[in-house]
This record gives sequence, C-alpha cells and structure tokens, in this order.
Amino acid sequence: MPPCLPSLLDLKSVSLEQIELLFSFASMLKRRRLVPTNRGLTAALAFFEPSTRTRLSFETASIRAGLGPLVFEGGSNTSLEKGETIEDSILNIAAMLPSVLIVRCGNEVDLAGISKKVSVPVINAGWGTKGHPTQALLDLFTLREKWTSLSGKKLLIVGDLKHSRVASSHAEIFAKTGMQIGQCAHPDFALPSPEIVFFSQLSEGLQWADAVMALRFQFERHDKSLGFSKEDYRSRYGLNRNSLQALKADGFILHPGPVHYGVEMEAEVSGDPRAVVLEQVTNGVFLREALLRTVLGEPA
Ligand code: CP
Repeated sequence: MPPCLPSLLDLKSVSLEQIELLFSFASMLKRRRLVPTNRGLTAALAFFEPSTRTRLSFETASIRAGLGPLVFEGGSNTSLEKGETIEDSILNIAAMLPSVLIVRCGNEVDLAGISKKVSVPVINAGWGTKGHPTQALLDLFTLREKWTSLSGKKLLIVGDLKHSRVASSHAEIFAKTGMQIGQCAHPDFALPSPEIVFFSQLSEGLQWADAVMALRFQFERHDKSLGFSKEDYRSRYGLNRNSLQALKADGFILHPGPVHYGVEMEAEVSGDPRAVVLEQVTNGVFLREALLRTVLGEPA
C-alpha cells in the first residue's frame, strides 16, 4: 500500500490538512490504544547523534504500532569504528528492508540525497540544525490540546534559535497553522526571518505571548569565542519564577528538552502549573505512533 505520507524530512511540504489528520489520529490513539497491526515488520532507528526522548519515543511508538524496532546507535561497537561512512551505514540498514527508516544525524549527512536512494520512507528525527519536524509537530499538538485551535495564538521562542533544529522546524510550519512566532534571542542567536517578531527584552516578549518555549543552549554547536558569559545569558534570557510573571496566567511553558537548568530555565519552573514539558514528552509518543501508522498507510 503506498504511504499516505512520504518521507518526512522537513515541514515545508506538509499541508495543514495532513497536520490536522495527524493530530486527530494522535488524539484518538491517546484516548484509545489501537492493537498493533504491523506484526513482522520493522522500524529502523539509526541515531548518529545523542538522544533520549526522540529515540525512546520512536521506539515505543514502533512497538505500539506493531513494528519491531531495529535500533542502531552509531558509535562504539559498530562498523563506523572500522571506517564505514554514515551514508553507507544508513544505506545498509535500508537494504534490510525495514518499513520505515528513522534517522538522527548531523548537517554533514545528505539525508535528502539518501532518502532518494532508498526504497523506504525516511523520517528526520533531528538533522543537525536543519530541522526536527516531529518535535515541532508534538509541540503544536500539545498546544492545540490546550487551546482547541492554534489559529491566532502567539508562541515566543527564547534562546539559541540559530543553532536549534526545533526552531527551524517551527519556522517552517507556524504560518500554516495561523500562529504567530516571536523570538527573544541574543542577536548572534536569532533567526534571520522578518516574519518572526523579534524582542530584545524577554519581558516584552512574554507579555506578547500565549506560550513560551525555551531552547537548550547548544554548547556543542557554538564557536568557542562567544562574546558573552553563560551568566549574562541566564540573566537576559533565562526563564525563572520572576521573569515568568510577565507571561499570562493561562499561558504555557514548553521546552523540547534536554533542559539545562540554571542556564535557559531554572529548576523551579518545572513546578509552575503552566509548564507542559513532560506532557510534550507523553504526546511525542502518540504523535510518532500516529505518524508511523500513517506512513505505513493506515487510515486515520
Ligand atoms: N527533544 C529532543 O530531541 O530530545 P532528545 O535529544 O533527547 O531526543
């Protein structure tokens, strides 16, 4: 059966109708577990960068959908150690004919090119700074559960947008949903997009927003010569009990994880009733199960 959704490498070509179908399917799966229908089939998870949430939620989603997860964590004890390239590793995994190939990798990997060489749908599970489509989808799914409709709502993204694949994916999708996106970032870390409202002051952005998402300070992607200290960053862009007084009482606080407490967010924020960080994780499993079942051609 041809997949209803082809490979999911980014959100540019995903329509609002496909997003709505996916969200309806994920909501249904959350209300009522479906029996696994794909017994004997496999989902290959090839992860060449670290992950906790995305890997385990795709693994859980695969099992719930009846797909046996084949997990390849690129690193020690694999043929990468013997000099095999990441591209060759992925092509060889694809040659084992999984029903879907879920890949996390760096910018240097030509995932789009690889997806054209393989005969199975490829899902981007975090591709360098290029995008993390399922994270943006699960973020929006979480907010839509709260608001019923995303249209007209305002999401402020705070922190290191430039190095964030999550921010890149949100930038691709927000206009389709009728949302507005704002950013509050050090100028070196902002996205150069005129459609994204820029706030230099966190308090102004928080007053404007219906929800705020903090992003991880991406140490590993920075040039070491930052012109500011971690403490400066924390005091200007950090979410804490005090700064969050500017966010409306019925607003929401998100973080895709992993959180660096004491940098972009203080630990006290976890206890804020507006925080939905763990709900995002729970929803990630349902959203990814819905995606896997949809890619395999199951009706929503
Ligand atoms: N949000 C996210 O991608 O988390 P992991 O890196 O743990 O998968």
